[in-house]
Amino acid sequence: MDVLVISSSPNKDGLTAACAAAAVEGVQQAGGRAEEIRLNDLQIGACEACNNGWGTCQTDHECQVIDDFQPLHERVRHADAYVLVTPVYWGDLSESAKAFTDRLRRCEATLREDSRLAGKPVIAVAAAGGGGGGMITCLLNMERWIDHVRARRFDLLPVNRWSREYKLVAIRAAAEAMAKELLKGGE
Ligand SMILES: Cc1cc2nc3c(=O)[nH]c(=O)nc-3n(C[C@H](O)[C@H](O)[C@H](O)COP(=O)(O)O)c2cc1C
Repeated sequence: MDVLVISSSPNKDGLTAACAAAAVEGVQQAGGRAEEIRLNDLQIGACEACNNGWGTCQTDHECQVIDDFQPLHERVRHADAYVLVTPVYWGDLSESAKAFTDRLRRCEATLREDSRLAGKPVIAVAAAGGGGGGMITCLLNMERWIDHVRARRFDLLPVNRWSREYKLVAIRAAAEAMAKELLKGGE
């Protein structure tokens, strides 16, 4: 049972990193396997809206812009569950999270119920700083993405610097519960 924890901040020791670490711990506590993928360590560019708006994402469910997207897409296809952790930028996902999720959505949403994420649980975490605003609009966009790729929203968690302490506990608990559910299903 493999959970991909996909984080998308340039900071290696910020709030996003702490949330991702809590998610990994939660999965491991349940006896599952979890690995963090830091999108900012990869080269994944923005969608180029090839041709007249659609490229091979529509026909072959593969992205034709070759970079680090393809190997990660392969790993996403084989994972059992996901934790997406983004810092809140402008009340939205970070640029690295947006680039990756945009391209993945095109490849998978076009498969409709055959999406390789169909029915798989996702925990979405929006980590805000500054004024602590924009968490809800960020989560709204993440929820929309979960629906588009036909995944299952397991939980949607906002966190800011004031709620950090108790939300890290909640993220760990959510990841543990998700992993336990998957392990139970596989018995
Ligand atoms: C370009 C940019 C836009 C941001 N927009 C928001 C925002 O809308 N609301 C907010 O509370 N914080 C905002 N922040 C602050 C980040 O959400 C905050 O620093 C967050 O904790 C980053 O997580 P990190 O510590 O993992 O980098 C913004 C930061 C940047 C760099």
